[in-house]
Amino acid sequence: MMKPDNFSFAVQRKTGEYSDTQYWQLSSAGEPGAERQYSAEDKQSIAEAAAILAGGGTVAFPTETVYGLGADARNTSAVEAVFAAKGRPADNPLIVHFADREQLVEFVAGVSPAAEALMDAFWPGPLSLVLPVRAGVLSERVTAGLDTVAVRMPAHPTALALLRAAACPVAAPSANRSGRPSPTTAAHVREDLAGYIGGVLDDGPTGVGLESTVVQVQPDGTVAILRPGGITAEQLAAVPGVVVTPPSGAISPAGGEAAGGPELAAGNSPAPRAPGMKYTHYAPQGSLTIVSGSSQQRVADQAAALLQAAQARGEKTGLLLFEEHLALYPAAAAGCVVSLGSLNALEEGARTLYGALRRFDEAGATYILAEACPESGLGSAIMNRLLKAAGGSVISTD
Ligand code: TXA
Ligand code: MG
Repeated sequence: MMKPDNFSFAVQRKTGEYSDTQYWQLSSAGEPGAERQYSAEDKQSIAEAAAILAGGGTVAFPTETVYGLGADARNTSAVEAVFAAKGRPADNPLIVHFADREQLVEFVAGVSPAAEALMDAFWPGPLSLVLPVRAGVLSERVTAGLDTVAVRMPAHPTALALLRAAACPVAAPSANRSGRPSPTTAAHVREDLAGYIGGVLDDGPTGVGLESTVVQVQPDGTVAILRPGGITAEQLAAVPGVVVTPPSGAISPAGGEAAGGPELAAGNSPAPRAPGMKYTHYAPQGSLTIVSGSSQQRVADQAAALLQAAQARGEKTGLLLFEEHLALYPAAAAGCVVSLGSLNALEEGARTLYGALRRFDEAGATYILAEACPESGLGSAIMNRLLKAAGGSVISTD
């Protein structure tokens, strides 16, 4: 993978001891849908984590999408510690998390009617809005020097409790080492970052499993999707008064890679992009290729043949598929076969995708093939992440 010219890591990651990172495990969340109850010990854990954030440290915490690595967004050395722990390029800005919408006025310089409508519809929830930032109120490291800031209110009781207790705006990228799949469990966070961050607040697996949708209202009032995510384009467009900017071109599977990845390959369009989208993300350690086509039997036949050939030359193989296609493959088509669940219930695929990519790493897979899914609803976020994980590598059987 080529790297952009300006590729540079903010600060070198320091080495650390696993035990340097505090770990708090909250009691189990109880019945889904029931109001979250916290034990006295849970409350103490949240208070300790919040004190670390308020004191300029870093803490990983659950949100409804993925675990985030938080720091006080006003504190430059705290924010630098986030970039350092992740090994994140300095030109990739962070999302700032709030527990209350009223806090926003202090940090953003104006909210358009369309942005208001989106917050009314989806907050708290997996939607980040890019808004004009007030000068001088946040660390410039958070915004990577842009005149905008991405903001969101997570729909997770523990995230909200932590944000309230820390009483500061919390910048939080996904709590993974840069280039690794985003963490959907506290174990994933510890795997990547223990020893490099102040603490991990473990409140079980996250729900959505993919990051928030990032949007920006354009000068003409339409809403551009900078990163597909937990809120779908269809959901956005269903809000009265909201018009979604037509995509500048489908995420082209054929897209040449260069530095850009699929999004930048989508033509000469001036459409805005989240700066982070140019980096290859979520890459498993083995090589990953997507196999797609209009005939699912042909996809399965081609994938099975490629996997067999790979096995014959000594590769450790992996296959990522949807449940309804399992029967199209020969038995033991790959050393590690992982199902994303049904194509008719992509919520499960979204929730389990990153864990699946990590499983291939654990299995030591060196050659992995993945099926594609239709790019509608949550399918567009799933395909966006898969294409990134694959570095844009797609085989079409049509
Ligand atoms: O679900 C999520 O959004 C998770 C959880 C932890 O909240 N966070 C997350 O953060 O995914 P991160 O840093 O991994 O992704 C932030 C994305 C990047 O693609 C970044 O380029 C984009 O948001 N972004 C941040 N600020 C921006 C800005 N001012 N303009 C355009 N894009 C921005
Ligand atoms: Mg991330």
